[in-house]
Amino acid sequence: MLKIALSKGRILSETLKLFNKIQMDFSQVNEDTRKLFFDFEEYGTRVILAKPSDVPTYVEYGVADIGVAGKDVLLEDKKDVFELVDLKLAQCKMVVAIPQDRSIDMPIYRVATKYPQIAERHFVKRGIPVEIIKLHGSVELGPILGISDAIVDIVSTGSTLKKNNLKILEEICPISSRLIANQVSFRVKSYEIMALIEKLESVL
Ligand code: PRP
Repeated sequence: MLKIALSKGRILSETLKLFNKIQMDFSQVNEDTRKLFFDFEEYGTRVILAKPSDVPTYVEYGVADIGVAGKDVLLEDKKDVFELVDLKLAQCKMVVAIPQDRSIDMPIYRVATKYPQIAERHFVKRGIPVEIIKLHGSVELGPILGISDAIVDIVSTGSTLKKNNLKILEEICPISSRLIANQVSFRVKSYEIMALIEKLESVL
């Protein structure tokens, strides 16, 4: 049985639609039921529902053979997994944002973010020493409350930045969902995984 870890939350419905396009109907997978795994004997597949940031961990440890994880999570929390396909779901970008009324030339001392590793690497690369403040959500509050001068976060539609009077200072990288695989499973179950990749690539 091929075990697939999928991320709960916003991206789940997009992921299920993609599998539906390759005739894998996972419509029973529904996070409202509180059930966390679903077996589909007809496809020889078990779907495991996980928090987005836990998907690479399940795949690294092999409790899931493959998974669908955001590039943000993969960059933040580097795991020993193979990144196989850009599924182009949940496309957005990682950015540095500052208050609308702040000049782009003003130095940045403190940065609030859910992604401390990505932020740290970005500012080190730019040779800018900053203090990174880790928050677990609603990071846009950072500059409003004065805990930081800037944020590093994901922007999709841009409406959260706009509503909180922030503007993009620079783009760090594009983000989207990736198909990842456990390194052993990729060899042991290569036939099943390659067949799945071929089908997915045909509809991307
Ligand atoms: C993400 C991100 C932004 C928002 C951006 O947060 O951290 O806050 O989405 O989307 P937009 O550009 O379309 O407005 P999420 O909704 O995942 O929640 P959180 O901030 O509570 O973690």
